[in-house]
Amino acid sequence: MGIRRADPCIQRAARELAADGIEAGLFHTSGTAGDDDFPGHRERLDRGVTPRETADAVAAWGADAAVSISLPCENALRDAAAKAFLDAVGIPTVMTPLAVTMLLVDKWETKQLCRRAGLDVPDGFHVDSDLLAGRGLPVPGYRDAPRVQAERVGYPLMSKPVWDSTSTGIRTLRSPADLDAHLTAGPETVSTVVEQVVEGDLCSVDIVGRPGSYRVLPPCWTGRAGAEPVFTVADLGWCGPREEADTAFADVARTLAGLCGNLGVHGSVNVDMIYTGGRFVVLEINPRIGGATTLSCAASGNNTFTSLARMARGLPHTGGMARRTCWAVEFLAEDGIQPKAPAELRRRVRVVTAHGLVIDGVSHGDIVVFTLAQGEEDRTVRALWELHEASGFPTTEVMAKISALLDPNR
Ligand SMILES: Nc1ncnc2c1ncn2[C@@H]1O[C@H](COP(=O)(O)OP(=O)(O)O)[C@@H](O)[C@H]1O
Ligand SMILES: [Mg+2]
Repeated sequence: MGIRRADPCIQRAARELAADGIEAGLFHTSGTAGDDDFPGHRERLDRGVTPRETADAVAAWGADAAVSISLPCENALRDAAAKAFLDAVGIPTVMTPLAVTMLLVDKWETKQLCRRAGLDVPDGFHVDSDLLAGRGLPVPGYRDAPRVQAERVGYPLMSKPVWDSTSTGIRTLRSPADLDAHLTAGPETVSTVVEQVVEGDLCSVDIVGRPGSYRVLPPCWTGRAGAEPVFTVADLGWCGPREEADTAFADVARTLAGLCGNLGVHGSVNVDMIYTGGRFVVLEINPRIGGATTLSCAASGNNTFTSLARMARGLPHTGGMARRTCWAVEFLAEDGIQPKAPAELRRRVRVVTAHGLVIDGVSHGDIVVFTLAQGEEDRTVRALWELHEASGFPTTEVMAKISALLDPNR
C-alpha cells in the first residue's frame, strides 16, 4: 500500500522530528512518494527486497534508529527479520521480534494465543495444505479429518488462508460439498483456518507500545460481518461513541494489552474483531499498523507514527486507553472526487485526509476522513446534505449511511 494511507499522520510525525533537529527517512517498496507524502529522505526499494537488503539500505543511509510501518503482513515479516539485522549492528528498531511476528501473521497460531489469553475466538480448525496434498509425509486419513471437524463446528464456515491479508482468498463454505471442493482444490491450495461464521459488527483496534506500556486506541467500526466477507473500506468506517460496546471493550482492551506484554510486542499491532451479542470475538492480530489507524488517530488526537518515533528515540511512552475526543468518519468515493469537491468539503467539515486509495497498484477510488465534535452531528449532516445537493458529492448512498450514523432520529 502506498504511504498515502498514513496521511496526514506520517507527515506530522516527520515534521515533529525535523523540529527537534532529527532527519526522518522513508524506505518504501510501493507507489511514489513526494514531498507532500513524506517531508524527508525518501528511498524506493525493490518490491522483492530481502530483509538483509532492507537493513543494509537503512544502515547505509546512516540511521540511528528505525521503525517498521510496513503492511500488509508479508512486509511486516520482512521488517521483523530486518530488525534482527539492524538491532545487531546497533540500530535499535521498533518492531515486534521475528518469533512473535511469525506467530501473529499466522491466523491459526494467533487463535491459540488469543484463546489461551481468555479472549473469545471463532471455533475452528486448521487445514495444512502439505498434508492434504500428501506432500512429504503421506497421511491417508488427513482429508477426512476436516470433514469430521466441520460437522462438529457446524456450517456455514469460513475458510481463510493462514497467512494472507485484506480478505484475499477468504471463502464461505455453506455445506459439506463446499468443504470438499475446498479440500480438493489441488496442489496450489494454501493452508487455511476454517472457522465458524460470526455475524456482527466489524471492529478494528490499534495497540501501540512496548512491554510495560501499551496504548490502546479507540475501537473503529468498519462494517458488517457475516457469511459474505466484505472488503471493509467499501462501507463507512467510523470511530465514535457506542456506549454498550465501549463498556464491554474496556475488559477486552486490558486482556489484549496483557497479551501484547506477554508476547513482547514492540511497535503497533492491529486487532480485527467482530462485536456480537455484547462480546468481542477476535479474528486476528496483525503485527503491524492497521487500515483504521488514521481513523482512530483522528478521533483520539493520538498520532501512532509520533508514538513509534518517540519509542525509537527512547522517549517515554504513555500506556492505557486513549480517550476518544471526537467522531472520525471515513467513506470511500468510488468514482473519485470531482475536482472541486475536496475544497467544498473542507469549507463544511474538518477534513483529515482525502486521497486516492491504491492497493497493490489497483485504484479503489478516493478515501475521505473527517472529524466532528460530539454535539455537532446535526450541523454536520445538514452541511453535507447541502454539499450533496449542490454537487452530487458525497453520493446519496454515502449520505444515507452518514445520516444513519450521526443523526439516527432524523
Ligand atoms: N469468522 C468469521 N465470520 C464472519 N466474517 C469473517 C470471519 N472471519 C473473517 N471474516 C470476514 O473476512 C474479513 C477478513 O478476515 P480477517 O480474519 O481479518 O483476515 P484478513 O484481514 O487477514 O484477510 C473480516 O473483516 C470479515 O469481514
Ligand atoms: Mg483483517
